[in-house]
Amino acid sequence: MYFKKISINNLNEFQERVIPQLPNESLTMPGVMPQWHDRLIKILEIQKVITELKFEDIATHVCIVTMPPNSELPIHIDGGISKAALNIPLLNCNGTYTRWYSSTETPVSQTHHGKGTYLGVDRECCQQIAISEMNSPCIININQLHDAHNPNDTWRILLSIRLKNYQF
Ligand SMILES: [Fe+2]
Repeated sequence: MYFKKISINNLNEFQERVIPQLPNESLTMPGVMPQWHDRLIKILEIQKVITELKFEDIATHVCIVTMPPNSELPIHIDGGISKAALNIPLLNCNGTYTRWYSSTETPVSQTHHGKGTYLGVDRECCQQIAISEMNSPCIININQLHDAHNPNDTWRILLSIRLKNYQF
């Protein structure tokens, strides 16, 4: 399975409370920011979501995934022990997407903006097999080839809670 939509209580309220607590720099810096885990995990609303979903034992870290306007991420498999992620939309996530692919190529290790490694393949060797709009909370499979697409004129800000041993 590539993704599973889930619901969290009072998403609007969650967004309204969490957004003002985000590190300012995180809002206009492209990429995945694992360095803010220590700050994000202190946010009570985030702790509450993890507890309510009973993800205390499988939530490995919390990060922010930002995307500039009109951009897409390379097609990749995320490194690390977490094979799934709970993505929660924060800002401008309507009409933005995670897409999954099959490929004739074997993914190879690559670096992203000189930091962090991932397993990537050439886009030309890939065929899209699934898509999910990131407009509502969604557990996504990050152990399959995927990318993200923001076709809008706004920065997309998503909260991502990485999960180990999650069974779809
Ligand atoms: Fe990813």
